This record gives sequence, C-alpha cells and structure tokens, in this order.
Amino acid sequence: MMGKKRIVSGMRPTGKLHLGHVHGALNNWRSLQEDYQCFYFIADWHALTSEYEHPEIIKETTKDIIIDWISVGLDPEKSVFFIQSSIKEHAELHLIFTMVTPLSWLERNPTYKEQLKEMAQRNLYTYGFLGYPVLQAADILMYKAHGVPVGEDQSPHVELTREIARRFNHFYSNVFPLPEVLLTPEARILGIDRRKMSKGYDNAIFISDSKEVIEKKVDEMITDPQRARRSDPGRPGYCNVFTFHELYTDKETVKEINESCRKATIGCVDCKRIMAASLNLSLEPIREKRKELEANPRTIDTIIEEGNRKARKIAKSTMKEVREAVKI
Ligand code: TRP
Ligand code: SF4
Repeated sequence: MMGKKRIVSGMRPTGKLHLGHVHGALNNWRSLQEDYQCFYFIADWHALTSEYEHPEIIKETTKDIIIDWISVGLDPEKSVFFIQSSIKEHAELHLIFTMVTPLSWLERNPTYKEQLKEMAQRNLYTYGFLGYPVLQAADILMYKAHGVPVGEDQSPHVELTREIARRFNHFYSNVFPLPEVLLTPEARILGIDRRKMSKGYDNAIFISDSKEVIEKKVDEMITDPQRARRSDPGRPGYCNVFTFHELYTDKETVKEINESCRKATIGCVDCKRIMAASLNLSLEPIREKRKELEANPRTIDTIIEEGNRKARKIAKSTMKEVREAVKI
C-alpha cells in the first residue's frame, strides 16, 4: 500500500445493493484497488440524515453491504473497509468544519435542493441534512485523500470539500490537500421499468437475488417500447435488455441478437431468456462467495475490526494536527 495515492469513498447503508451500484460504483472501486490505496466505508451517520425516523435499516444493511463488496471482488487485503460511526473522529472534524462553513454554501448546494424535492415525503429540513456535505468533507479530508471516486451527482460535494479545506488551511495552517473528483463513468443500465435503477422505485435487480428471482425480473423487463408485436422489428439501442446483453452476454451472441432483433427473427421472450442465463452465469460466483461469507460471520467482523483499526490510526493523527492548528 505504501507509495500509492489514497482515495476515499463511501456508501450510505439504506438497503441492499443492486446492479446499479455494481456498474455505477463497485466495478470502478474494484479496478482502482490496483493503483490506489483505497479507503471504502459505510456512511451510517449519513444514512441517519434521511432515515432518522426508522434507523433499523442502517444496522440491518451495514454488514450485508460489506458482504456485497467482497463478493463482487473488493479485496480486504488490498483496501481498507470501515464504518464511519466507529471512527468518532469524523464527528469532531465535522464539528470543527461547521464553524468555518458559510451557510450560503450549503443552501445553494444542488444535491441538497434536489434531495429535498425527491424525498418530499420525509422531513429533511434538519440541521443534520443541511450539513450533510460538511460531514462528507470530514470523511474525505480526515484521510487526506488525493481523490474521491463518485458519480456525477456527488461531485458538488467534493467541490464543497475542496472549498472547506481551502478555508480551513487559510485560517489555521496547511493541513489538508485538496481532493480531486474521480468521476465514475456513467452507469447505463436502467431498472426493469426503464427508470433509473433504485430500491425506492421497486425496479432493482439486487446482487443477492436468487437465480429464480432474476429470471422473473428479467421476464418483467420493459423492452423497446415500439416493439409491440412479435413481428415488429426492434431497436436494440432503445432496449434495456440489450444493454444488459452488452454487459453480460458473449460478443458473438450479442452480435446475433442485435441483427435478429432488427429483423424480428428473435422474440423478446427468447431474447430475455438468453440474457437471464448470462446474467445468472456472472452472478453465480458472486452468490457462492456471498454464501461462504454469510456462513462465517466472524470473518466479516474481523475484516471490519481490522479496517476500523487502520482508519482510526490515520484519523487520530489527523485530528492531532487539526487540534494543534485550531489551538483547541
Ligand atoms: N454522499 C455519498 C452518497 O450518497 C456517500 C458518502 C458519504 C461519500 N461520505 C462520503 C462518498 C465521502 C465519497 C466520500 O453516495
Ligand atoms: Fe430488446 Fe431483445 Fe426484444 Fe430486441 S428482442 S427488443 S433486444 S428484448
């Protein structure tokens, strides 16, 4: 791990992970492990900002998500996995950052405004929710990260983190490097109803879904909306099933499907059956790994303890510098 640049990223434990997470984050996280010293963590305090009325989901999904991470190939030998709330220093650094963060920066944050609208059924007019990116800045700067791999939606938060670091360095002393956004290539896959894949829309295919559940979900997938009858030619470019083929089916078959869909010589039912089979083939080793980890809960506990220990060591040292800088 020595000599490599460090990156930090986190996930909120608000439910089990689905293929949107795999293509939108985890595949990228996995390949970054080769070139960076990676710190990946469960942002459970961040989850609390929106789930504070029903926090049970947080505890229920925390371990499960780490199992998903390892099952898809994140490697605890290469990367550090930890739990945000186990490193209390994040709370202290967050508190100090709140002192130097102008309210206007938070109020004009585009993610904040969007989320308020999107989750209108919840009361998100709280102090904690407005301060969400300040806590995120603490997560990132605590480890003096060089980069932060995130999706487009999160890049304003990384920008804000840079602003906070700059302001802190300006008032006190040069403690924090400014982290870069490492933008994750956009995930192209949609949910089974063609909307963005999301647990909230009830359209997600989960990493932990069984073979049978996957077959059923694929069967329900909406295809090219213009292909109403079997005899209508289809447009693979407008079909989410085809997008899955491109990710999971062998090239030769994808080529054939592309042609026969356009000529209407293959029906959607058969096409989906092939896709479900390739998807299941890819997920099978992940399911196996999952089963193995579930059968050995001590293994996961040890991985988390070890990760927490490594994270805490750095956090303690950063906080020492921070306290010296602010003279408190
Ligand atoms: N806000 C991120 C999300 O919703 C999660 C997160 C919390 C995070 N702290 C972070 C991501 C620090 C990167 C770095 O996806
Ligand atoms: Fe989509 Fe396949 Fe149907 Fe074509 S045949 S529209 S690619 S499901």
